[in-house]
Amino acid sequence: MQQLWTDLDDYIEDHLLPKDERLDKVIQNTVEHGFSNHLAVAPNQGMFLQMLIQMNNCKRVLELGTFAAYSTVWLARALPQDGYLLTIEGRESHAQMAQKNLDEANMPTHIEVKAGKAADVLNDLPQDTAPFDFIFIDADKGSYPDYLELSLKFSRSGTIIVLDNVIRAGDILNLDNHKPSITGLRDTFKALQDHPKLLSCTALQTVGSKGHDGFAIAIVK
Ligand SMILES: C[S@@+](CC[C@H](N)C(=O)[O-])C[C@H]1O[C@@H](n2cnc3c(N)ncnc32)[C@H](O)[C@@H]1O
Repeated sequence: MQQLWTDLDDYIEDHLLPKDERLDKVIQNTVEHGFSNHLAVAPNQGMFLQMLIQMNNCKRVLELGTFAAYSTVWLARALPQDGYLLTIEGRESHAQMAQKNLDEANMPTHIEVKAGKAADVLNDLPQDTAPFDFIFIDADKGSYPDYLELSLKFSRSGTIIVLDNVIRAGDILNLDNHKPSITGLRDTFKALQDHPKLLSCTALQTVGSKGHDGFAIAIVK
């Protein structure tokens, strides 16, 4: 099935998605630096994130897990000139590549890359940091329960929180799988369930060029 899913993603990209040299350049730079682009969201997923931001007129976006900034460019495409995007990356080499890619992309909105563990960076943000309108969680899956709570600290009523890769080809159902990433995701589902600070929440499975995975989406009460 993987080939069919990839061919269909290519078809969607060819028919529905805009050509954007900035996105192509990020992929090209990533590969030239010897990294696999597999960690990045697929183009149609990037567009889905962009549309969520556009639908809700978001101005302030937080991203946990930048990698080479491919998703960052999709998120930033949706922001107005006076928007702000903070993206946090734990690996210095990834953060450097992301900064280079963003410098080259020269997006009109203010984008800040902070290198460091996402939890540390968030805990160090000033208490009076204005809330984010949209939060994309795409770093180490084992820490997603912590990232959810930290995200709520920097949210307002109506903030949208999207958590990527929450299905992992069904591995979350295998209770014999005790990898931190998988137990972290099961704990995330428990945390999302009936969370007192969330208005609504769901998860959507996805298949495509990145395999079988999915997003969880929550709206803050
Ligand atoms: C799936 S990739 C992000 C892909 C990117 N959002 C995209 O779609 O283009 C996950 C990234 O999270 C980073 N990461 C892992 N643990 C982290 C942590 N504790 N804090 C911040 N970033 C972390 C990894 O180095 C990696 O670059």
